[in-house]
Amino acid sequence: MPNAKYVPFDLKLDLSEHLKKLKPYVSGKPIEQTKREFGLSEVIKLASNENPTGASPRALEAVRKTLEQSHLYPDASYQSLKNAIAKKRMLDPNQVVVGAGSNEIIDLAIRVLLHPGQNCVAPAYSFIAYQLCAELNGVEFRTAKLDADFAISVDQILAVVDANTRVVFLANPNNPTGITLEAKELRRLASGLLKKNVILCLDYAYWEFADSKDFPAAEDLLVDYPNLLVLHTFSKIYGLAGFRVGYGLGRPELIQWIERARQPFNVSSIAIEAAIAALEDQAFLIRVKEQNAKERERLAMALSRLGLRVYGSNANFVFVDLHRDAEQVNSELLKRGVIIRPLLNYGLKTQVRVTVGLPQENDKLLKALKEVLV
Ligand SMILES: Cc1ncc(COP(=O)(O)O)c(C=O)c1O
Repeated sequence: MPNAKYVPFDLKLDLSEHLKKLKPYVSGKPIEQTKREFGLSEVIKLASNENPTGASPRALEAVRKTLEQSHLYPDASYQSLKNAIAKKRMLDPNQVVVGAGSNEIIDLAIRVLLHPGQNCVAPAYSFIAYQLCAELNGVEFRTAKLDADFAISVDQILAVVDANTRVVFLANPNNPTGITLEAKELRRLASGLLKKNVILCLDYAYWEFADSKDFPAAEDLLVDYPNLLVLHTFSKIYGLAGFRVGYGLGRPELIQWIERARQPFNVSSIAIEAAIAALEDQAFLIRVKEQNAKERERLAMALSRLGLRVYGSNANFVFVDLHRDAEQVNSELLKRGVIIRPLLNYGLKTQVRVTVGLPQENDKLLKALKEVLV
């Protein structure tokens, strides 16, 4: 809507071609907007892999105390959170960099490690932020083909890497497919890339949900692979998505450069206090993990019984092939107050991603789906 106060003016913006070509990020539809659009009083959102339990109560308590100090800038070095993370992971604080969500660290890693003319690689159907950040920074983004059933192929990744590749991104478990790369293959990838002098950015956003023993911790991998940058977030299992805080782990030789590019006050002081308290709230973590695993299994079984293909997941969401136009199913679900994530922006027409909700939310989704799929 043009603002009536302003006379039209043709601003001659000299924008980069990368920016002009960039496809905007498609986020999960907000609850309030859906309520307004469809005249609904109750809407559930299973679209952004948030924690349906809420935030850790200890984190919220810590935030209340910190609010009094809101007039002060945070400590620009974020030493307290770095110390807390380092202690928990048995690393050195100079192996930690904190960001406004792990998304910021993806962007920083690209800006620090890649120049125009170079490229980064990720398996097809990886988290879309890798491509968006790369293209915004004028860096080529390449995808590696998958094997059947969306399986990640180390050979295909290594085949796409060339002399201009500086970073390979790997989300494990992957978003949106939930697919896991087993530990042996992960190690084969890390050592293959080490020989080629390429950084492996291992995105462990969903690591804490994984129940298989097949997800080596960053601190163990870093012993063998100095070319690793491991990303973690407080947005998922810790339930702090709204605060925007995540972190990267690596050898100090790598972390120091990402630190160099980081803005001094990139994370708010309340987010920092929430993160420190959440790290200590082990009981909350265990409860969320158990509930998620139980509901994920129940949801997957119920969806399979509806004749849908559900892919195995180690995360807090399931990837489902509806065998029909996902956009159509999605609009019918929206009318019934259920927000899920269609994946057309990934080029996937019949698959959707569904966050594992609370039992009553999953029941609502299943009831709505039964109505829509008849
Ligand atoms: C694989 C993966 N990495 C990173 C992120 C970014 O998380 P945040 O920026 O909230 O830490 C997400 C969010 O959905 C994700 O799915």
